[in-house]
Amino acid sequence: MKKTDFKKLNKVQQELLEKAFEAMKNSYNPYSNFYVGAAILSDDERMVGGANVENAAYGTTVCAECSALVRARAEGIKKIIKVAVIGRNSKQLVSDPVSPCGACRQMIFEFSQVSDFDIEVIMSNTKMDKIIIAKISELLPLGFGPKSFDKI
Ligand code: THU
Repeated sequence: MKKTDFKKLNKVQQELLEKAFEAMKNSYNPYSNFYVGAAILSDDERMVGGANVENAAYGTTVCAECSALVRARAEGIKKIIKVAVIGRNSKQLVSDPVSPCGACRQMIFEFSQVSDFDIEVIMSNTKMDKIIIAKISELLPLGFGPKSFDKI
């Protein structure tokens, strides 16, 4: 796990975070007023964004990371190597990086085993002055995945 800021990221990481920032603008969040954007990088250098999409039946809400992961898979992406996440509240007051919830970590873990790659997760606040970079294996140690099922 590493603490950093936008200037210290490499070009690909910067682009991915900017893609997540753009995706965040499409957040549908009338219940929480919390904006989250995510972006996926595939092994063949495609980038796919996603935003949180809430629902009046709260439990049906889709997080930004899941939105991006499902979209990536639906667009034919088979291997994922990086995920960027960024978020803010309605007053833009979140100073700490947004990190994936437990369900999103599980989703990312699934695709890390499918991709046979320990996916890098880039977590940022909207100022991009506080960024944490971690591998999914650090965010979800001893995770349960398709390999536990003997599926891959
Ligand atoms: N949310 C995400 O999109 N990703 C996370 O990892 C944490 C939470 C969203 C869900 C909901 O729309 C809002 O943030 C508040 O929980």
